[in-house]
Formats: sequence, C-alpha cells, structure tokens
Amino acid sequence: MAIKNHDSVIVLDFGAQYSQLIARRVRECGVYSQIVPYTVTADEVKAIAPKGIIFSGGPASVKTPGSPRPDSALFSLGIPILGICYGLQVMSEMLGGNVTCPEKKEYGLQNIDIVDKSSVLFSNVSDKTQIWMSHGDSVDRIPDGFHVTATTATCPYAAVEDTKRHFYGVQFHPEVVHSVEGDKMIRSFVLDVCNAKADWNMGSFVEDAIKEIRETVGDKRVLCGLSGGVDSSVAAVLIHKAIGNQLVCVFVNNGMLRKNEAESVLDLFGKNFSMNLQYADATDDFLSALRGVTEPEAKRKIIGKVFIDTFYNEARKCGDISFLAQGTLYPDVIESKSPSGGPSSTIKSHHNVGGLPEDLKWQLLEPLKELFKDEVRALGKELGLPDELVYRHPFPGPGLGVRCIGEVTKERLDTLRDVDAIFIEEIRKARLYDKIWQALADLLPVKSVGVQGDERTYREVCTLRAVTSEDAMTADWYRMPYEVLQRAALRICNEVSGVNRVLYDITSKPPGTIEWE
Ligand code: XMP
Repeated sequence: MAIKNHDSVIVLDFGAQYSQLIARRVRECGVYSQIVPYTVTADEVKAIAPKGIIFSGGPASVKTPGSPRPDSALFSLGIPILGICYGLQVMSEMLGGNVTCPEKKEYGLQNIDIVDKSSVLFSNVSDKTQIWMSHGDSVDRIPDGFHVTATTATCPYAAVEDTKRHFYGVQFHPEVVHSVEGDKMIRSFVLDVCNAKADWNMGSFVEDAIKEIRETVGDKRVLCGLSGGVDSSVAAVLIHKAIGNQLVCVFVNNGMLRKNEAESVLDLFGKNFSMNLQYADATDDFLSALRGVTEPEAKRKIIGKVFIDTFYNEARKCGDISFLAQGTLYPDVIESKSPSGGPSSTIKSHHNVGGLPEDLKWQLLEPLKELFKDEVRALGKELGLPDELVYRHPFPGPGLGVRCIGEVTKERLDTLRDVDAIFIEEIRKARLYDKIWQALADLLPVKSVGVQGDERTYREVCTLRAVTSEDAMTADWYRMPYEVLQRAALRICNEVSGVNRVLYDITSKPPGTIEWE
C-alpha cells in the first residue's frame, strides 16, 4: 500500500519477527506505517517522504560479514531515526560506535532506569519501567554525539540518543506488550520527535486501498476466493467497492467446512451484497486428492493445489481473469516468509501463502497483507460488514482438514463437524465466544475404550482448544470454566457417535501453534 495523503513513519525490516508489530504500533498512533526492506535506497525513501524511520530488530549480528546494512545515505536525509535492538546496533556501528558479542545473551523482562529525564522518548513514561529484552550483541561504545538516556542492571546502553541529528536507539523491544509503556515511547517518537500528524485511520486506509486497487487492476478482472471468514470477506467487500463487477467471488465448498457453513455464507452474501458470487462444490475433488495422506504439510499443499484447480475451473466460466485476490493477513505472511523479502526465518510453510503454485497464472492481489486481525476487523466495521461476520473466530483456509489429524475422510470430517458445532454452541451459550480469540476441536487418530449404556465402545479421541491472543503470533490457552467443558464433553460423548473421549488442550503458543497441523 503506497502512502498518499498522510504523514507516515516507515519501518526498515532487518528480518525481525516483530517488524509489522512496530508498524502496527505506529498506526495505533493515527499515523500510517508500512514496512520496507532494509535495502531501500535513500532516494526511494525520499520519494516516500516519511516523517520518521524505524530500524527494526533482526536475527543477524552486525559483527558477521555480510549482515544487513541500510543505505548509509539515510543518515543524511535529516529524517529522525529510531533503531530497535539490531536497528540500534547497526546504527551505532555505522556511525562510529562499537558492538560486542558477549557470551551471555539477554532475554526476558527487565526494568529500565530512565537516566535522562529530559528525553522526549520517555517523556510520558515512569522513571522505572518494565521492558522486554531479547538480544545477543550489545553496544559497548556509542557514536559521537550520542548520550545515554536509559540503563538496566546489565545493559549500560539500554537507550541512547543524539538529539541534534534526531537519532534514537533502544536495546529493548518497545513494540511488544511485555514492554509495559513501550507504546508510549513509540508514540513520543512518532508524534513528538517526528512531528507526524495523527490523521490516519481505517477510513483513510479504505480510500488509499481503493485508489491503489483501481490503479493495479485497471480494467482487468479479479477472482476472489471467498471463505466466509473475516479476512476474505473484508478483502472481497473492499475490492468490490473499488472495482464493482470486475470482481468475481468464488465460494468453494471443500468438504472441510464447519457445520452449515456453506448455507450461511451464501445466505449472508446473497442478502447483504450484490456481488458476482459463484458456488463451487468441490468436496469430492478435495477428499479424493487427500485419500491416504496424513502428513500435515502434504495435506496443506494438496488442499492449496485443489483450491487453485477449482479456481481455474471456475474462472473458465467467467471470461478473462488476471488477478487472484486473497484475504492474506500479516501473520499469515510472516509465518511463511519475510514480508518484505527480508531475512526473517520461516516458521511454518502454510496459510494462503504456502499453498500457491510457483507458476500461478494470475497476479496476486492481497490488499490486507500488512494488517493484523483486529485491524481487519476495524476495516470490516468501516466497510459496513455485519458484526456476526466481523467478530467471527478465525478459521483456517484448509478448514477442518488441518484439524482432522491423520487421514481426512468424509466420515471423520462429519464427526469433527458435530464435535466442533457442539463446542462452539456451548461457548456461545455461556456467553464466552467474544472473550476467546479462537475455539477449535481436533479429531485424533487414536482410539480409546469407553463404556456407554453398558456397552463397550472403542472410538476416536477429540481435543478441544480455546486460546486468547492479540494477533495469533502468540497465544495463551483459555481458562475455560469447568462447567462449560463438562457440558461440552458430555454432549459430545452422547451426541457424536464417532467419539468417546474428550481432552482439553492447555498448550500456549509458543511452544505449540494454534492449529495442530
Ligand atoms: P498457527 O496454527 O500457525 O495459526 O498458530 C495462527 C492463526 O492462523 C490461522 N491459520 C490459517 N489461516 N490459512 C488461513 O487463512 C491457513 O492455512 C491457516 N493455518 C492457520 C489459525 O487458525 C490461527 O488463527
């Protein structure tokens, strides 16, 4: 997304898991932010004309030959710079300071002492405040012109600044929630150091996105896979607003949807939006391609491929298509690859991004790929989508296929659909749905012995999982009241014939992921 009529602060991505979180914190200040690769040139930055630049953290060591370096001419643009962790180290090294690689790495919560109370960065922050450290290397000599503004017991250069040149650096991560007043530091940098005007909001995003989609698409046609989830629905409505009937939405029934999902999506979109919407029931194609497959990545790849084949089939019915639109969000991208082509490491090849063929016939259109889920929800509200859709729990593209552990068969899917429906119904009845980021059920390829009505049973085991999260990058298990678990477990064993044992998953992310596969 290009920045048009608003002040912006750009984030140079050195490969941090948190780059987009920094951008999001800036947007929370009402100032547009996007991330750009660290290789951006000073001329390119001049063309964007940001009010400030933030250097992200990153996994490299500045002491390793070939580690990422920004264009040194950035330091002469007169634009304020904030370096975070690796960003501070690379700035220090390039401006004449020094960085060492001590044997002991420093991770976790710390308190910083603000030693220069006149620092603008800390003007709204308590004198001692908790921050999150995660670094191997440390600055051990700061460049000329800099002075120390905060320290910790183990880090003499926790924060430094050169107020004349407007260069700031912090060794910790103000962007993560564990840095309790980190958002205030970012706000002070953006609004007080950079003097950016806080006039950006989701309404501005819609305006800019519509312009950009029109420019990109021209008079060509776009096919959008609509799943009925928040992301693809918001993407579809946004694109529809931009290009109207040049958009064709395809709702694919892959046989791995939740109970009554197809009917309710068709009903909702049929009633509320006058879009071109095609329905493709490809259940048999998906299930036959998945026969005998149990390996999670193989399943994801197959599901991705059959999706694309189905889209190709559907596209034949509606003339020339040039673009495939998807509701890919930032967390989908980061866990598959670094969004700016930067150097962050691959966590898991999946989500919308992982399943696409290299030789895709169409160009991708992903207008939400810089946003986090709650930002997409705000955008959905802005676009007038109904609350029942905007506040739905996330549901993965490959659907129940990645929750049916082991082989995906129609029979097992039917079982899982029933388990899932009961679990969600009980959560709704207990009025907990909106307190939970996501609730899900998985079916395990493990059988256990039970007894029901004096009869021995030997059936599969299901797990229930509910998590709280800010953005799906990390998650904690939800402390579900026992009564709700009890009701759900009882109903599942009584009403679902394929299952006789129910477990509740208490793994957080990390070390687990939200989905089992
Ligand atoms: P994990 O399991 O990686 O999931 O912790 C993080 C979030 O992403 C959702 N998810 C997906 N969403 N396509 C999607 O659109 C996918 O392939 C996919 N896999 C996981 C997951 O439900 C959670 O909200």
